[in-house]
Amino acid sequence: ASSTEIDISAIQPGQAIKAIFRKQPVFVRNLTPKEIEEANAVDASSLRDPQTLAERTKEGKENWLITMGVCTHLGCVPLGAGEGEVKGEFGGYFCPCHGSSYDTAARIRKGPAPSNLEVPEYEFSSDTVVKIG
Ligand code: FES
Repeated sequence: ASSTEIDISAIQPGQAIKAIFRKQPVFVRNLTPKEIEEANAVDASSLRDPQTLAERTKEGKENWLITMGVCTHLGCVPLGAGEGEVKGEFGGYFCPCHGSSYDTAARIRKGPAPSNLEVPEYEFSSDTVVKIG
């Protein structure tokens, strides 16, 4: 299985980029302090797919949210990584195919998707490079 290295040095807080990992889109997002706060303000046990932001990020790097860019409903690519303000009503990602809204931890909050955007295996090779897979 191949891995993908992504240079994250130019991704500003509040920005997300789309890369490709094993022929599928992957989103790398630099969360703002406000987005982190919003994610942590939610009672995770009340969610369809209960996970905290801390469970979906690496310790000490909670601002880096790395997920597959594949809607868990029927596999469309959600908007919100590179489309400016198109983030849906929960501030994360929005899948236009059937209206699934994901929050700032890319957790499913509304719409038909059954689960959160998948977090792939990854590690930080350095402060500015992430190796996915
Ligand atoms: Fe995303 Fe259906 S594929 S909502």
